[in-house]
Amino acid sequence: MIFAMPVDPDMSPEKPTPGRPESSPPPAAGVTPNGNSGATRDTLDLPAYIGKYKVLRRLGEGATSDVFLALDEFHAAEVAIKRMRSWGSASADNRQNDYLRHFYTAEASLAGRLQHPNVVQILDAVPDPASPYLVMEYVAGVTLKHFCRSDRLLPLDQIVELGFKCAMALSYVFRLGLIHRDIKPANLLAVLDAQGQVTDVKVSDFGSALNLHAESTQVQRVGSLAYMPPEQIDGGDVDCRADIYALGAVLYHLVAGRPPFDAPNQMALMHQIYHQAPAPLQGQRGGVTAELEAVILNALAKHPQERYADWESFGRALSALVVNQQVPLARLYEVKDSERFNRLRELEFFADFGDVELWEVVHRARWQRFPEGHALYKRGQEGNTFHIIAQGAVEVFREGTRVATLGKGTSVGEMAYLAPNPDLRRHSADVRVSQICTTISFTPESLGQLSPECQHRFDRGFIQVLVRRLHAAHETLAHPRRIL
Ligand SMILES: Nc1ncnc2c1ncn2[C@@H]1O[C@H](COP(=O)(O)OP(=O)(O)O)[C@@H](O)[C@H]1O
Ligand SMILES: [Mg+2]
Repeated sequence: MIFAMPVDPDMSPEKPTPGRPESSPPPAAGVTPNGNSGATRDTLDLPAYIGKYKVLRRLGEGATSDVFLALDEFHAAEVAIKRMRSWGSASADNRQNDYLRHFYTAEASLAGRLQHPNVVQILDAVPDPASPYLVMEYVAGVTLKHFCRSDRLLPLDQIVELGFKCAMALSYVFRLGLIHRDIKPANLLAVLDAQGQVTDVKVSDFGSALNLHAESTQVQRVGSLAYMPPEQIDGGDVDCRADIYALGAVLYHLVAGRPPFDAPNQMALMHQIYHQAPAPLQGQRGGVTAELEAVILNALAKHPQERYADWESFGRALSALVVNQQVPLARLYEVKDSERFNRLRELEFFADFGDVELWEVVHRARWQRFPEGHALYKRGQEGNTFHIIAQGAVEVFREGTRVATLGKGTSVGEMAYLAPNPDLRRHSADVRVSQICTTISFTPESLGQLSPECQHRFDRGFIQVLVRRLHAAHETLAHPRRIL
């Protein structure tokens, strides 16, 4: 049996809806994101508890559910609780309940499975007979819908960065056999810092997800029309390129302040999605380059075969915009997260690291760029910082003579880091940058703050470095002529 759900047109993203978090003004410094004050409906009809969780306030609502901020008192941790609406109530019609059950089941089946820094974690699913609910990681922020209005647009380089992170997150999700099918601004949560600046993004709401590995019946024709590709409206087979289209539509909206297609009714909107090209982006906002426009419009192609074939190629195209400076960069010398992630993936040292650990290194390591001639280490100096060279090269000098040139993927200073006694922590050589250089550095303290899994990967990486050195030293001793 196939369930057909009337699609949510979601056609009024610019229309403010009182009380919805995404339509409230940007949080000012020091204000808790998503916060509300006063006895609005947000506080009036709050349940005191949902299960063991103490409800603090309403975070938002979607087509199927209410979402609350709640406290897990035992763990003293804040969580987000998504409770299905009108489940089992005598007045609710049965068809509606069937839909809700499918949305809940789709999401509940993912509890504990989604482990990615840019995907909202589903911690638990509680099949309460009256109204089942999901317990999720709480994301302090607003949804990207907040930044879809023309008076609140984000800088272009930030939009591209957010797009890259979503692409990598959805690539991970796709590798688990899932197609999200409802990528839209209201389902992408922006993480805000205390100043109200966007620092990260997390994909959420897997209620419409299609599990390619599942045997059971799944709901067809779900999603939000404004961001939906033609093949999904048709109700035909979809693959990851349907989500690629939807993310393209979200990026278009974030850049232009309006969605790629907009019409007063569903029929007209569908007609546009099938037959019309989106309005060019370049005329709509200063700073949009032909390359940026081409990337977004490629994702929005009508036929899946004309779009990026997979998330990797879409991600590569997005990060290339930043690396090649085809978007105006707010801070020119900053090493952007997309660039960091891609550089790490190219380095042999990080070959064994999974996505989660790679993002940890993106965020936790110190990333620096050094000009030619810069002294990374001086002989005799004590230190415990080690560097992994992500780009460029350094030269090693002993007694004024160059003894080695180290390039991308090699590490320097790790002996001082691994050294059991202070004597060995003194640098025995001068190390100078010979080609403009980006390094990833850690100290024992900063490395100690990484997850055990990530530290374990570093230890393995260093063991390999040491074995290689030992082998080289052996060769030198055994065959001195060969080396000399
Ligand atoms: N983990 C979370 N942390 C903070 N806010 C959330 C979280 N999950 C959802 N929300 C808020 O609740 C709204 C509805 O959640 P969503 O999962 O999209 O429900 P629906 O499936 O009903 O659309 C979101 O648009 C967002 O404003
Ligand atoms: Mg939603």
